Amino acid sequence: MPLVSMRQLLDEAAKGGYGVGAFNVNDMEQIQAIMMAAKETKSPVIVQASRGARQFAEDLYLFRLIQAAAELNPDIPIAMHQDHGNSFETCKSAIELGYTSVMMDGSLKEDGKTPSTFEENVDVTRRVVDFAHERGVTVEGEIGVLGGVEDGHGAGGSGLDHITDPDQAVEFAERTGVDALAIAIGTSHGAYKFTKKPDGSVLKMDVLIAIHKRLPNTHLVMHGSSSVPKELQDIVNQYGGKLKPTWGVPVEEIQLGIKNGVRKINVDTDNRLAITGAIRKVFAESPEKFDPRDYLKPAREAMKNVVAARMREFGQAGHAGDYKPLSIAEIAKGYKDGTLTTRPLVASK
Ligand code: G3H
Ligand code: 13P
Ligand code: ZN
Repeated sequence: MPLVSMRQLLDEAAKGGYGVGAFNVNDMEQIQAIMMAAKETKSPVIVQASRGARQFAEDLYLFRLIQAAAELNPDIPIAMHQDHGNSFETCKSAIELGYTSVMMDGSLKEDGKTPSTFEENVDVTRRVVDFAHERGVTVEGEIGVLGGVEDGHGAGGSGLDHITDPDQAVEFAERTGVDALAIAIGTSHGAYKFTKKPDGSVLKMDVLIAIHKRLPNTHLVMHGSSSVPKELQDIVNQYGGKLKPTWGVPVEEIQLGIKNGVRKINVDTDNRLAITGAIRKVFAESPEKFDPRDYLKPAREAMKNVVAARMREFGQAGHAGDYKPLSIAEIAKGYKDGTLTTRPLVASK
């Protein structure tokens, strides 16, 4: 089937009370790993590419691979999403290429590093929403700033530096009309999120719950949601890696988030660890091997296992066939005639 609207995918997830993993891709093997997992678990799925990924793989290669994935898996709804768009132009280029969803990360200025003002964020996000909705494309915005830096993108610092203020989240959702809202609750991108298993002092699930109470129908997004499992760290280190001990976001906390309005969960680092561990293992155990297939195949399998586990844990497993995806033209019509509402329901304090 053609690529589907992320809005529809998340609306259905809300109806079903489950979350949907959004997995980052840079190459064919990662796309295949996600599709293998989606097929095995019968899951709808969000595939996402960062600006770095689009540059690494070249837009057209990556997009054609996603189209191939959609063509080869007609029973799996796939939304293709721009992760952390830094400007109107980045989002526009993704939409023109055929992405069915974009994130306008206006929490940072265009340099992808400096926190922006609230008004700047509202302004650029609103412009992207107008452009995207006219074309049936979903928009995720972000309010509050995540910690860490990935591939040059991110404010750096700790995840506690700019936690989302629930009142601002309400105003942001009302003024922008975003379909999904990423919030900052203490997570950061990358492997080094927490120095011990996170408790409420560093992972602010209470803030997430407060935002969900005020915006009960808004699809919340958790970034930096890799769990960084010790088993994956151990494999990397066992075969010559040098990862320092670290903790990610426990799956139970994500599941608590899903009970409280989280519909999209971003995972990249866990897959990077799985791939790297599998490749290191082949290199260490079979140094005579030099056919890339000898290590890319186990790497793809390792990523598939992580993605399939997350699909089951987030609850999306088994939901691929629940609904008939609408065309992007029908979605555009829905935004225009108001069937697809962009006014959030706001509950009083
Ligand atoms: O935003 C974070 C994702 O892990 C993508 O990372 O910008 O290094 O591709 P990247
Ligand atoms: P992780 O680094 O925790 O996998 O987060 C990925 C992410 O948020 C992509 O936008
Ligand atoms: Zn992110």
